[in-house]
Amino acid sequence: LKKVQLFESLSNEQLHHILSIANKQTFPPGIVLFQENDPGSAFYILLKGSVKIYTRSTSGEEKVLSLIQAGESFGELSLLDGRPRSASAQTLESTSLLVIAGHTFHDLLRNQFEITRHIMAELCRRLRDTNQHVYDLTFVDARTRVLKNVILLANRHGSRSGNVISIKVALNYDELAQMAGVTKQALSQVLRDLEDRHILTFGLNEYKLDLARLNG
Ligand code: CMP
Repeated sequence: LKKVQLFESLSNEQLHHILSIANKQTFPPGIVLFQENDPGSAFYILLKGSVKIYTRSTSGEEKVLSLIQAGESFGELSLLDGRPRSASAQTLESTSLLVIAGHTFHDLLRNQFEITRHIMAELCRRLRDTNQHVYDLTFVDARTRVLKNVILLANRHGSRSGNVISIKVALNYDELAQMAGVTKQALSQVLRDLEDRHILTFGLNEYKLDLARLNG
């Protein structure tokens, strides 16, 4: 639990309290945890695996809004404003979650200011990311959008060793394209170009971004 950002400043006693009120659940890949417009009933903390947050157009096209990985949380919006789920959530791999019921989440916010502060900081970060994405969709070309999305994933989910950042993401090409706001063809073209220039190399669900070549 100490690796969960939300809880980093809590004492051991407080962490034990959280464990006693939360419910640990494990899901296989591909499970829809909730859908957009469902009533919100729980808050989720991701311990292992990953979850994609997405929305769908009326014609069924999907748009990935965010990728949630270990140590991060989701499902707070509908609990905070009492409105339906703002997006859907689906597991991408075998995933363990701490599930906190709505009323327990409200008790935590009332009693633990550090948790409230973290939730507020996380909401700010999401709004900033969304503003950045609106900017990119409005002003930036497809190639730069792909590159910026790779850098965002590297910053949020990568581990750095020297000049190389390894990014482990369970998103497929369609989902990566949706996240960057480009077509799958545009994504493939840009990734191939980055690979040709040895800026990005691919493994199974893993990308390696070479910062020296990127900046060179
Ligand atoms: P909630 O609306 O309860 O259910 C969907 C969750 O997805 C939402 O809470 C947030 O935790 C998360 N979410 C919704 N939109 C975004 C976004 N643009 N970026 C990151 N996370 C989001």
